[in-house]
Amino acid sequence: MRASALLFLWFREMTEPATKTDLGVSQLKCIGCGRTALPDRFRCETCRDLLEIIFPGWEPAGPYGLSANSLKKLWLSRKSSFEPADQSGVWRFREVLPEIDQEKIITLREGNTPVYELPHCARSAGIQHLYAKHQGMNPTGSFKDTGMTAAASFARAAGYQWVACASTGNTSASMAAYASRGGLRSLVLIPDGKISWGKLSQSLDYGAITVQLKTDFDGCVRVLNEVVERMPVYLLNSVNPYRVEGQKTSAFELLEQRGWEPPDHIIVPGGNLANSSAIGKALGEMKHLGFISRLPKVSVMQAEGANPLVRSVRENGGEKLIPVHAETMATAIRIGNPASWKKALRVIRETGGTVEQVSEVEIALAKAEIGAEGVGCEPASAVTLAGLKKLVKQGFVKPNETVVLVLTGHTLKDADFTLKFHRGDLFDGTTYQAESGSLKRFERSPLVLEPSVDAVIKLLQSAA
Ligand code: F0G
Repeated sequence: MRASALLFLWFREMTEPATKTDLGVSQLKCIGCGRTALPDRFRCETCRDLLEIIFPGWEPAGPYGLSANSLKKLWLSRKSSFEPADQSGVWRFREVLPEIDQEKIITLREGNTPVYELPHCARSAGIQHLYAKHQGMNPTGSFKDTGMTAAASFARAAGYQWVACASTGNTSASMAAYASRGGLRSLVLIPDGKISWGKLSQSLDYGAITVQLKTDFDGCVRVLNEVVERMPVYLLNSVNPYRVEGQKTSAFELLEQRGWEPPDHIIVPGGNLANSSAIGKALGEMKHLGFISRLPKVSVMQAEGANPLVRSVRENGGEKLIPVHAETMATAIRIGNPASWKKALRVIRETGGTVEQVSEVEIALAKAEIGAEGVGCEPASAVTLAGLKKLVKQGFVKPNETVVLVLTGHTLKDADFTLKFHRGDLFDGTTYQAESGSLKRFERSPLVLEPSVDAVIKLLQSAA
């Protein structure tokens, strides 16, 4: 056989179904036309819409014939296990995930993230009960790890050697780490100069081939979509339905941490809109399986400069996405053409949530307030608190309701932003300069003193 023919066969092998989802438990379904039992790709062959994973095998007796109560007990019991899959805050919930051979799992013990009470932020927003589910406490510092452990494991199980993503920084950091742990090569496409150096340094450190394209995130996605069509490379962007499955476990974990008592509201930042979709999917499944009896309202917050979902809902009732040219200092959500907008909109509608947008100055203020609670987060995560304040003012969130903010990234992800904020020059030369005067009282710029005991004591006394 000629070399080119061999290459073709190998290529076809690599691009054919990535995993077997036909074992009866889980199945791929198109969110547009509803077709099921599709080949394992990222878009429907017929209508090109996104795919999601459904679980016909749960009917009629629950996952693996287990009731919600049995699953609650089983999952809790795994917390004292030393098995890698049990120590993962994702695979601990494996009965509600697509099936995979445990040997194939790539895990950094992701998930297991804390829920913190935020009393000062609650007061500032005008409510009594405010919590943060801090997804930034994952191994690479963002929520992406919960989805990546799933999708990278399925990529490896399917025999792929290369994985790739376009990213605003966190997906790339996470993918690079999981690929290396699993012995896979990885290709990262990021917008040149528009991701934080912390995230860029992670993908270099974890061993990815990192390419800065002279375009924005949406441009990186366009290039990558072509690349994966033509090369045997497995796409690990969040259009990958296995990413969504992994990410949904954060909601199972949150509810477990709350003794299966749903909060009234969950507020999520919106970028490519997969995380809100994943959390909403999990809540729907929990209600269906009898874990919870009511759904929290899931609301999505965007930056004013990267607000395609907000615009679409306001201008055409969410009938059609209005892509925007995105611009925000919260670079993680600098996305103008989000892939998962239909999934997110469905979640907002089904749970009775809403969408809102916040300004750059509101984001900076909220980030400082979350930092001052000793918790901290990256700018994109702070849209949740900024948005909550608006929802309280609008009466959508009532003062006595319980709210959980999903903090998606660790504060060290974008230390530059934080330093500029405290030095007081974050908004220098921007149109927000005048408005940013209100932030002064939150700034704590570093002080420089002579190395003298007296000088330090004098400072302490003046600060007391
Ligand atoms: N928060 C952070 C810290 C993020 O990194 C992202 C997305 C989001 C929120 C938005 O989540 O896309 O599911 O709506 N970051 C992606 C990336 C796009 O490439 O790291 P989403």
